[in-house]
Amino acid sequence: MVTERFRPFRFSRAGIRGLKVSATLEMNERVREMWDAGQDVFHLGFGESRFPVHPKLAEALRANAHQRSYLPALGIRELRETIARFYQQRFQMPISPTQVVVGPGSKSLLYALMMALGEEVILTQPSWVSYAPQAHILGKPVLWVPLQAEQGYQLDIDLLRREMEEDKEQWGNPEVLVVNSPHNPTGTMLAPERVRALADFARQEQLMVLSDEIYALITHGTVPHVSVAHHYPEGTIVLGGLSKHLSLGGWRFGLAILPAGRVGEALRRALQNIASSIWSSVSAPVQYAAVVAYSGDSEIDEYVDVCAQMHAIRTRYLYETLVEAGVPCVEPSGAFYLYPNFNQWRVSLVARGIQTSDELAFYLLERYALASLPGSAFGSPPEDLCLRLSSSYLDAGTDEKASALVEAYVADPDPQAFIDNHHPRLREAAACLAEFTADLEKGQQRNVKVIVPAVPAPKPSNLD
Ligand SMILES: Cc1ncc(COP(=O)(O)O)c(C=O)c1O
Repeated sequence: MVTERFRPFRFSRAGIRGLKVSATLEMNERVREMWDAGQDVFHLGFGESRFPVHPKLAEALRANAHQRSYLPALGIRELRETIARFYQQRFQMPISPTQVVVGPGSKSLLYALMMALGEEVILTQPSWVSYAPQAHILGKPVLWVPLQAEQGYQLDIDLLRREMEEDKEQWGNPEVLVVNSPHNPTGTMLAPERVRALADFARQEQLMVLSDEIYALITHGTVPHVSVAHHYPEGTIVLGGLSKHLSLGGWRFGLAILPAGRVGEALRRALQNIASSIWSSVSAPVQYAAVVAYSGDSEIDEYVDVCAQMHAIRTRYLYETLVEAGVPCVEPSGAFYLYPNFNQWRVSLVARGIQTSDELAFYLLERYALASLPGSAFGSPPEDLCLRLSSSYLDAGTDEKASALVEAYVADPDPQAFIDNHHPRLREAAACLAEFTADLEKGQQRNVKVIVPAVPAPKPSNLD
């Protein structure tokens, strides 16, 4: 008898080895288990805009269901022209259709761009969960530049310069800088003067800036959105898409605006190669529907603004709850995220066996049924007790609820009434957070004599 020998498959280092299961996935799985077991969970971990598909876009998608051919790898001409016009009108960016490329989500375009561009990637700490794994898969070293809460999470150019100088001795010149405003996870936006300083610095250092502006149309009206491309068009690639402001993450549509001229042309060719070898093109019906999304249709544009206002009210309500409860949190100005910090209750938390943001997030879930994401998922040092809270899910969990919210807001846009009359879950979650912090405060008084060692914060490494 022939016995079959166990021969394990061999996995590539880039693809599988060394990549840990993300805390995001673990958290979502745990929430799913709790839901399946009939438990009630306040999901503040879910970063997806939930408002309904605009009827004109649903209709455009239906009307184009018969489009079944492969399309040009970088997008149909009509769509690229429409997007160029939209960006000119909405963001005053004088771009031509040849600079526009589309892909299946901005995430895929970002990955393709990282693949096409130079070696080392500069990321802020914290930053969105996917940048570092993408760099890791591509075998690119990451230079982390910390953002400080005390500076409102604004990128500190002097610190960036110092970090780059130190790094150059070891690795050579970093060439790619990823910036993201409005920012996931902190909900902050780069101030216009900071954008200008950053652009000047990037030009001086000849950095290619990947400017992730996927939340550019979800701002709270307190800080104007200014793109680095405004001041440094020759070295900035802007990323955008439909996922956030039109709640169409599942349609998988993203775009990139390349610099004009020879740099842009070289990048276009590289992207054309990558796209045609990997995903061929964005799904045909989605491309035709995207033409409508970027057409400047006044009803769609108004809907985008209404959604942004609702996100702002919901996010600011949570922010105010945190401030009232004494939780340090930088004021959000865009997207639907908050990044509160619980370090001041370290004594009380250590007494409960909590030393890291992962432990904090899971404790909150188990004890208070509050789901959030730990700061460590965004590259913050594990001992920094930050959580990312998202206001996007509660009271908008189903299409019916999300539609009812839109109707209610349009009928009465008063922020207080909108929260009081239509957000029972968000208010419960806020009360829960307040109760948690009150408990921490009591524990802190009791355990104040416990001496907590200060742990030096290690930098995250993209190699582990
Ligand atoms: C900062 C940031 N960039 C990009 C994306 C991905 O967007 P897309 O759906 O276009 O791939 C997300 C989604 O969560 C995000 O938060």
